[in-house]
Amino acid sequence: MKISIASDHAGFECKSRILQYLSENQVETIDLGTDGALSVDYPDYAVKVANLVSEGLIDRGILICGTGIGMSIVANKFPGVRAALCHNTETAKVGRGHNDANILVLGARGLAPDLALSIVAVWLKTPFDGGRHQRRLDKLQEIEQSLKNGTILAAKSNE
Ligand code: RB5
Repeated sequence: MKISIASDHAGFECKSRILQYLSENQVETIDLGTDGALSVDYPDYAVKVANLVSEGLIDRGILICGTGIGMSIVANKFPGVRAALCHNTETAKVGRGHNDANILVLGARGLAPDLALSIVAVWLKTPFDGGRHQRRLDKLQEIEQSLKNGTILAAKSNE
């Protein structure tokens, strides 16, 4: 599996620790910045990772900012991206199993360093559960398509 990773200044230290962890665990990684603590704008870094994932040019991505909120907002604008802001290992597990999250988003200011690495570990190893969750992902695709076409989705129910 190949991972692209980026952060803003608030996520830079956390990104460095994650990069070291991924390297120690032989996970192939592309670091798309930022390269230091100088203040930068999170959308500039979110688009780099989200674009690669959206285009199918890389398997998965990791984005880190102060809260994780800005990175999530940007990444989820890209077709095919399912970015999950995870605060603990449980949300990372369910984000993979239920949502097939292809981008992990972390809020560095609210995470202890060891917890950030545990979240990454769980997110990397957890497979998508499929089944009823695939039906829901199909609906996400339908929504994307209808937004692209400018058509309005009729309300649907499985009941
Ligand atoms: C930067 O101060 C901060 O706004 C940013 O890292 C992020 O939390 C935005 O959502």
